[in-house]
Amino acid sequence: MKQLVIHPVKRLQGTIAIPGDKSVSHRAVMLGSLAYGTTHVTHFLNSADCLSTIGIFKAMGVKIKQSGDRVTIVGRGLNSLKPPRKTLDAGNSGTTARILLGLLAGQPFTSRLTGDKYLRKRPMRRVVGPLTQMGARITGNEDGNLLPLKIETRKLRGITYELPVASAQVKSSLLLAGLFADGKTKVIEPTPTRDHTERMFSAFSIPFSQRGKTITVKGPVKPFKGQWIKVPGDISSAAFFIVAGLITPGSMVRLLNVGLNPTRTGILDILQRMGAHLGVSYRKTRGGAEPIGDLTVATSALQGVEVGGDIVPRMIDEFPVFAVAATQARGTTVVKNAEDLKVKESDRILMMTVTLKKMGADIQPTSDGWIIKGPTPLKGCRVSSGGDHRVAMALAVAALIAKGTTTILDTENINTSFPGFANLLEKVSVR
Ligand code: S3P
Repeated sequence: MKQLVIHPVKRLQGTIAIPGDKSVSHRAVMLGSLAYGTTHVTHFLNSADCLSTIGIFKAMGVKIKQSGDRVTIVGRGLNSLKPPRKTLDAGNSGTTARILLGLLAGQPFTSRLTGDKYLRKRPMRRVVGPLTQMGARITGNEDGNLLPLKIETRKLRGITYELPVASAQVKSSLLLAGLFADGKTKVIEPTPTRDHTERMFSAFSIPFSQRGKTITVKGPVKPFKGQWIKVPGDISSAAFFIVAGLITPGSMVRLLNVGLNPTRTGILDILQRMGAHLGVSYRKTRGGAEPIGDLTVATSALQGVEVGGDIVPRMIDEFPVFAVAATQARGTTVVKNAEDLKVKESDRILMMTVTLKKMGADIQPTSDGWIIKGPTPLKGCRVSSGGDHRVAMALAVAALIAKGTTTILDTENINTSFPGFANLLEKVSVR
């Protein structure tokens, strides 16, 4: 069991480049594998989760070469995937599993999909339900809710589906199934979620339409060609350094090449509302490409804030580190409408409550978020991340300003989204 030992710092200073976006990296491999011809991906996130996605497509006969953060995918078209010989393994990656279920449901062969001990506990019904309505036959434990799942070959038909929970994974899964289904697949979102699948459809010239909250794809789609995809830096990874810079006295940090897709920038909006000194400079990008820019973060006196509603999906993965920021904000911070945090890589409402409380924070869980009062001094201790990468990194940020040393247990899963996190943190730490 890997652990991370963090000593308090005097301040943070320096400039770092943020590794590639996980959501975009997954989608680049998926669509590149369905395209015909070569797709070149640059700044790919070389993390365990994205390698799980690559492994799965290799197991279905796609030629994929990787060299550092460059990936070359030689696709042979929409209907070219081969039946896998073994059970496909999504590892720890919920995004791989959920989005892939839609794609697998549309294949003319039976497949099996599993994941690691954490992923095998996470709900798949949210995608299995609507895919079944499209005609898929997906079976497994708890009536098809838990991996391992068997996906049998069936002809899919398009449906109109109103998402009960705002989820980009479910939306994307249905849109990918829609590429293979007969007729129109319409997905209606309650609130907008990350639109990387739609942008990637545009990049590959896959026709779809978006009217208000409804996204429509008409299947089966015509063949589409391989592309060049430049993956932006992951704002969810940047968030750890943003909060670290804000709460550690005397700090100034620059983060380069950060993805600034408006469906992902909720964390910037909310921190700015709390009084964060956060400079954003957009870089020039072409057409429908993912927007990117550089961020400058300086230590700031934060004020408590209320977070809820439409902004929640725009910062869903940033709540663990946001909770750390809230412990240092003056006044009360209330997070609402974030119940989906309970079914992430861990129950993040519970995990952040237990761990931050142990470090001295004033944090109360609610049914859909937290009430956090601040500012409170934090103290170093031994805490477990429960195997959740983002909990582990959020605790590492809290540890920078804690009194004494913090030992975070069970941190190997940091590699699922942010290999090199500890080295980059060390790079900007001044002791
Ligand atoms: C993701 C969507 C989000 C997010 C996850 C990545 C994606 O999940 O939490 O880390 O790439 O589509 P939900 O769509 O379930 O909210």
